[in-house]
Amino acid sequence: MPALVLLGAQWGDEGKGKATDLLGGSVDYVVRYQGGNNAGHTVVVGDQKYALHLLPSGILSPGCTPVIGNGVVVDPAVLLSELSGLNERGVDTSKLLLSGNAHLITPYHTTVDKVTERFLGKRKIGTTGRGIGPTYADKINRVGIRVQDLYDESILTQKVEAALDFKNQILAKLYNRRAIDVAQIVDEMLGYAEQIKPFVADTTLILNNAIDEGKVVLFEGGQGTLLDVDHGTYPFVTSSNPTAGGACTGTGVGPTKINRVIGILKAYTTRVGAGPFPTELFDKDGEALRTIGGERGVTTGRDRRCGWFDAVIARYATRVNGLTDFFLTKLDVLTGWEQIPVCVAYEIDGKRVEELPYSQSDFHHAKPIYEMLPGWSEDISKAKTFSDLPKNAQAYVKALEEMSGAPISAIGVGPGRDETIEINSFLS
Ligand code: GDP
Ligand code: IMO
Ligand code: MG
Repeated sequence: MPALVLLGAQWGDEGKGKATDLLGGSVDYVVRYQGGNNAGHTVVVGDQKYALHLLPSGILSPGCTPVIGNGVVVDPAVLLSELSGLNERGVDTSKLLLSGNAHLITPYHTTVDKVTERFLGKRKIGTTGRGIGPTYADKINRVGIRVQDLYDESILTQKVEAALDFKNQILAKLYNRRAIDVAQIVDEMLGYAEQIKPFVADTTLILNNAIDEGKVVLFEGGQGTLLDVDHGTYPFVTSSNPTAGGACTGTGVGPTKINRVIGILKAYTTRVGAGPFPTELFDKDGEALRTIGGERGVTTGRDRRCGWFDAVIARYATRVNGLTDFFLTKLDVLTGWEQIPVCVAYEIDGKRVEELPYSQSDFHHAKPIYEMLPGWSEDISKAKTFSDLPKNAQAYVKALEEMSGAPISAIGVGPGRDETIEINSFLS
């Protein structure tokens, strides 16, 4: 039985939540491996809509154990409020497991995130303001606070002191803000400790044992390939590794144990926040994609930037993640266009370029080269098999598959769990 990684192939919001939830009924563990509550995953079950930020989407499937791995950054206040919100709606969250090695987002991380963005002015990244970057920076700087530190007050105090020593100088002297009180932070963090304790576990051991016993484990990425700190459009990225390798470092499961890597790919492209986006549209087509696709951020409520499908990016995602499959989402949103442009390559300084340029300056100048594909007008939301799709929709999917370098094994034709066409099973 397989261990699978499911990740975003573009700039996030591809429909990972829906795809994970769909598989959740057949898998034993769903594991978040990076990011934090910067994610916003929408899952629609019947007439119920859930917005998850930190919790793995598997939390909505009764048989499944949701796991937050060591690579995730955890805001304990958000964790507890998300859990209680689900409990109020009758969702059992008692099986959740949380790595003791995951790093904690504290109020000073959120403060630093916001003041840094303000300070950057025009050059800002457009972060979600959730403290993600500063928490990962502390982790790498070796002044982070981990979940396990909540259970040793003396160590917690020493670590918060060490972290604030430097930050308070910056906050006060550079940003003209009040210094943050160590005791106040320690008290707040200790206030969460007992409520979180039942979930804390050696998740690396549990997951490796589960895989050895033949259980099905699904690693759910937050964000997307082009937001990866190493492989994305740096510096306009998030501060973690949503790409497939992140599933290993973020959980302590080795690459030899992973059988399949599924890229979630929107039938067009969206992006939130700043940074280059070659196929971005500023006309009525962009507005139509935003409206029909409901392209508004689940976490920040910001309008998403919208554009046509970009095959160069899809090919890149196949390469840097070693994708075995794609799950193409939101095909239904494209219904009604007479012709649909698809970016097949870029023009950079008068030359045709087939692969994503590694140079940031080149990517900023990349102009999309479009091929026009014929559209369809029939409602496809009830399609259950590939052959139920109109011929032009079938051809669109096949063309994308050919350009993107991995088979399209499922197609989303609506937000609901059952609005999916399965072509090849992900679990065989
Ligand atoms: P995630 O961050 O990758 O989980 O994606 P988001 O939840 O932020 O955004 C995807 C949006 O598209 C959500 O509102 C989903 O309910 C919706 N969605 C997912 N798949 C489909 C699909 O195939 N068709 C349509 N129309 N909506 C979809
Ligand atoms: P899901 O999991 C889309 C973007 C932010 C910003 C950049 C850095 O729903 O796909 P951060 O707060 O992470 O430091 O912000 O990354 N970003 C996302 N964009 N979907 C997300 O998550 C995102 N998480 C972060 O808009 O540009
Ligand atoms: Mg999202």
